[in-house]
Amino acid sequence: EKGTYSHFMLKEIDEQPFVIRNIIQKYQDESGDIKLDENIRAAINDTDRIYIIAAGTSYHAGLVGKEMLEKVAKKPVEVHIASEFLYNEPLLSSNPLFIFISQSGETADSRGVLVNAKKNGYRSITITNVPGSTLSREADFTLHTYAGPEIAVASTKAYTAQMAVFSILAMDSARAQEIQTDFNAIQELSLIANAMEVLCDQKDVMEQIARDYLLETRNCFFIGRSMDYSVVQEGALKLKEISYIQAEGFAGGELKHGTIALIEDGTPVIAVTTQKATNLNIRGNVREVEARGANACIISTEDTKQDGDRIVLPTINELMTPLVSVIPLQLISYYAALHRGCDVDKPRNLAKSVTVE
Ligand code: F6R
Repeated sequence: EKGTYSHFMLKEIDEQPFVIRNIIQKYQDESGDIKLDENIRAAINDTDRIYIIAAGTSYHAGLVGKEMLEKVAKKPVEVHIASEFLYNEPLLSSNPLFIFISQSGETADSRGVLVNAKKNGYRSITITNVPGSTLSREADFTLHTYAGPEIAVASTKAYTAQMAVFSILAMDSARAQEIQTDFNAIQELSLIANAMEVLCDQKDVMEQIARDYLLETRNCFFIGRSMDYSVVQEGALKLKEISYIQAEGFAGGELKHGTIALIEDGTPVIAVTTQKATNLNIRGNVREVEARGANACIISTEDTKQDGDRIVLPTINELMTPLVSVIPLQLISYYAALHRGCDVDKPRNLAKSVTVE
């Protein structure tokens, strides 16, 4: 039920701090250790390469999951769009492990890949919000995202929940392999839940940004680098699916290789900069588009901020920033769609679960 909320999407955005705290509880035992099926731990540790398969927003969570598994647990990972993998399989490693990410657990494109993987005897894990769903039943193992029912067509809390589960997997695998790391997913997740709450309390700021940049525009560009590139792809998908504004998420450095030709007077460009290593680069990219008339909105962190940034996020581990930086992107999309008179919870042409190929 929506309760006092005008839309499920807004309710589900606000639920994210609770979902993250719920995940912390579900994946921890009494002594504070990570609680994970031994067989899942073994599957991750035995494989020589992980293949993450997903669609849409879940694919975007996979991009972040890859970074966590590679940087923390030193596991090689490829992330593939399910419908592409299905008819154009890459050369696989000798002992592959498939991880399917699916909120609904019913996505036909992903299921097609799973059916083939099973035929070949490959092991598989499904990360899903619906245990008992097709992808959950058919994979060897399931990891539950515990986000509660997601009703709005645009996925919000399932995305952050999926990334939270990946952070736990990455930390667990590092420990199992005795890799030295400061990365403590549980501690980070509790900081993230708090940071999400702070941002969810700033709805007036997000609404004003939607008004300042997105009320009239036909298009909008999102730019970022590394982790921020992943999250801006999700930000662009959110905006286009519910507000019908043509939006694209680009790697900041790639703009000048063609796309910058589209920048005109007043084109909105939303830049996310949470990574210290690329903060100055992305700010350089912002200057390039501003010089061509763009109307830029910068989202930074306490560590990367400069005067004039529209949103400053609390500091969190650089590998985990998408869990927090996506909150303003979700809210900005919500208010843009709302003020443009769109049907926020049920955008045209879309279904909540896509059970056809
Ligand atoms: C976007 C959205 C879709 C889904 C995609 C995969 O907001 O909801 O892009 O993420 O259809 O769905 P699942 O995760 O159910 O496999």
